[in-house]
Amino acid sequence: MLRKRSLRARIISTGSYAPEKVLTNHALEQMVETSDEWITERTGIKERRIASPEQTASDLAYEASKQALKTAGLKPKDIDLIIVATVTGDTPLPSTACVLQRKLGAKKAAAFDVNAACSGFLYALSMADSFIKSSAFKKILVVGTEVLSKFTDWKDRTTCVLFGDGAGAVIIEPTEEDRGIISTHIYSDGEFGDLLLVPAGGSSIPASEESVKKRLHYIKMKGNETFKVAVKTLENLVVDTLKKNKLKPSELSLLIPHQANLRIIQATAKRLKLPMDKVFINIDRYGNTSAASVPIALDEAVRQGRVRDGDYILMEAFGGGLTWASALVKW
Ligand code: ACO
Repeated sequence: MLRKRSLRARIISTGSYAPEKVLTNHALEQMVETSDEWITERTGIKERRIASPEQTASDLAYEASKQALKTAGLKPKDIDLIIVATVTGDTPLPSTACVLQRKLGAKKAAAFDVNAACSGFLYALSMADSFIKSSAFKKILVVGTEVLSKFTDWKDRTTCVLFGDGAGAVIIEPTEEDRGIISTHIYSDGEFGDLLLVPAGGSSIPASEESVKKRLHYIKMKGNETFKVAVKTLENLVVDTLKKNKLKPSELSLLIPHQANLRIIQATAKRLKLPMDKVFINIDRYGNTSAASVPIALDEAVRQGRVRDGDYILMEAFGGGLTWASALVKW
């Protein structure tokens, strides 16, 4: 009798897009009281990309998705489901995923958004993985896209130096081969919700003249407190993810971390005793692009030939919510 093979979800292609406009640390020195030295030492960021006034989260997502579709040799009508991770969507209603579906002409696809801040892409990947394993969908487009520059208080030096805009996309499909997404892990703790938030624009403080005057529609972050929780949480997350899969850190080919702060990334790598050449870094060029950060990094890693068939790669992220997540993939 034939034994039924278990289904896995496999990332068959990647894509990414970043707006053309580059904002350097030196340019920021002209806008707020900061310095290239402070930003570089504390974060590892040298420059970030900024969307044009007309560009929206779905526009960036569209460019990244087109690239992923092209690489996979697929047409938009081949996609069954679109999941978009974002906290800076085009509008509160409809979802950015539905806008993307229309722009792509992906008529067959169901579409919805996920809000898990910087962990959003890995949350979306985790859901897509379950949909594939349950045979609910066959071709899923998973996108992380952010236009954080439009939610950034350009008078607040403690946050405006950190963020950037961009989008990354992957397409996943079922495989019976011994490869693909091995495991995903998602977590949250709402107790820490006030460490990182946009206070107004929802049902708790709807938009008003006063909310705008008080600058409540911008991202507020208690950076130092968030930093401490992030380091501890991510260290445990990566160790646990490997342990659950009985994998030694030395068996990892590449760690693809959320690009929020170089010091956080270095601390995670140190805990795993991973040399930094096994850690993908592009924070210097993009800053923190929240949900777009991991898929942009993955796309660049693939295009640079740093991910080869059979490699184990570990992706991880931490963000507002608080949320954190990881995914172990055999490429
Ligand atoms: N330029 C110069 N000085 C600054 C700047 C700046 N841009 N920003 C803050 N400072 C000053 C502060 O005022 C403070 O001065 P003081 O000592 O006189 O009070 C000093 O620098 C140190 O400030 P800290 O906030 O303690 O600096 P820290 O070393 O913690 O670095 C940072 C700040 C980079 C924000 C760091 O805390 C961090 O990366 N936090 C975590 C971010 C993160 O991971 N977020 C989650 C994901 S984001 C998401 O989900 C959207």
